[in-house]
Amino acid sequence: MTMTDSNPARPTVQAIDEHGHRVQRMFGRIAHGYDRANRWMSLGIDARWRRAAVAELRGETPSHGPGPARLLDLCAGTMDSSIEIHRQFPEADVVAGDFSEQMLAGGTHKLLGPAADRITPRVMDAHHLPEPSTSLDGIFCAFGMRNVSDLQRATAEQARCLRPGGRLVVLEFFRPTRVVPRVMHALYNRTVLPVVGWLATRDWDAYTYLPRSIGQFATVESYAELLRTHGFVDVRTEALTLGMAWRVSATRDDPAGEPAP
Ligand SMILES: C[S@@+](CC[C@H](N)C(=O)[O-])C[C@H]1O[C@@H](n2cnc3c(N)ncnc32)[C@H](O)[C@@H]1O
Repeated sequence: MTMTDSNPARPTVQAIDEHGHRVQRMFGRIAHGYDRANRWMSLGIDARWRRAAVAELRGETPSHGPGPARLLDLCAGTMDSSIEIHRQFPEADVVAGDFSEQMLAGGTHKLLGPAADRITPRVMDAHHLPEPSTSLDGIFCAFGMRNVSDLQRATAEQARCLRPGGRLVVLEFFRPTRVVPRVMHALYNRTVLPVVGWLATRDWDAYTYLPRSIGQFATVESYAELLRTHGFVDVRTEALTLGMAWRVSATRDDPAGEPAP
C-alpha cells in the first residue's frame, strides 16, 4: 500500500488556516483510538448509517466512461467508508482523501486483498482537491464537512471535481433545529460522548469539540440550499435515528443531459 502525497506541481495540502491546523492536530492525536471510540459511542449504528449512505452513490450508473468509476471518499479518516464503498462498488477506483496522515495510516491495516489495489489513500485538503475538473463519478463524505474551515469553498471544489451527473453523498451531524434531536444531542453529546471518547483515546478536548462543532455548523436545510447554489440538483435529505444524523445526496447538474427527476 502506498500513501500518495503532494505532487510538487500541485500541492494537495496548501495554506491550511489556523482552524484547519487545530483540527488536523486533533485528529492526529486521536487517530490511534478513533475506531474504538466510534464503535463504543455509536454501538455500531455508524456502520449501518455508512452502509445505507454509500448505497446512495449509485446513480443511474456509477461511471460515465469506459474505465472503472472513480470515487472519492473525502475526509476519509481511518477509511471505514472507503472499505464500504469498495464493498458495494468493487470495480471502482476509490481515493481515500484526508489531510491527517495519521488518520489514514490508522486505517491502512484494513486494506487487504483487492481493497489494497482499488483504494488509494491520499493526503489532501478538502479546500484544494488534487483532482482534475469533472474527473470524479462520485464523492462520499462522512462526518467531515462539519470540520472544514470554509464550507462554501469545499462545496465549490466538490462541484468542480464531479462530472455532470456525478453523485455527492454526505453523512453528517447537522445543527438540530427540532426539539427531539436537540434534546438527544444535548444529553448524549455533552455527557456520554466526551466520557466514552476520553476512555477510548485519553483525549478530552477532541470529544468536547464534537458537540461544539455541531452547535456551530449549518442546519441541514441551509446545507441543502448551499448545494443548490453550487450547481447540485435533486438534493435529498433524510433524517437518521430520529434526526441524530442526516444523509444528504445530490447530483451534479448536467446541463446537456436529461433533467434530474
Ligand atoms: C470525524 S472524522 C470522519 C472520518 C471518517 N469519514 C469516518 O466517518 O469515520 C473527520 C475527518 O475529516 C478530516 N478533515 C477535517 N478537515 C479536513 C480538511 N479540510 N481536508 C481534509 N480532511 C479533513 C479529519 O482529519 C478527520 O479524519
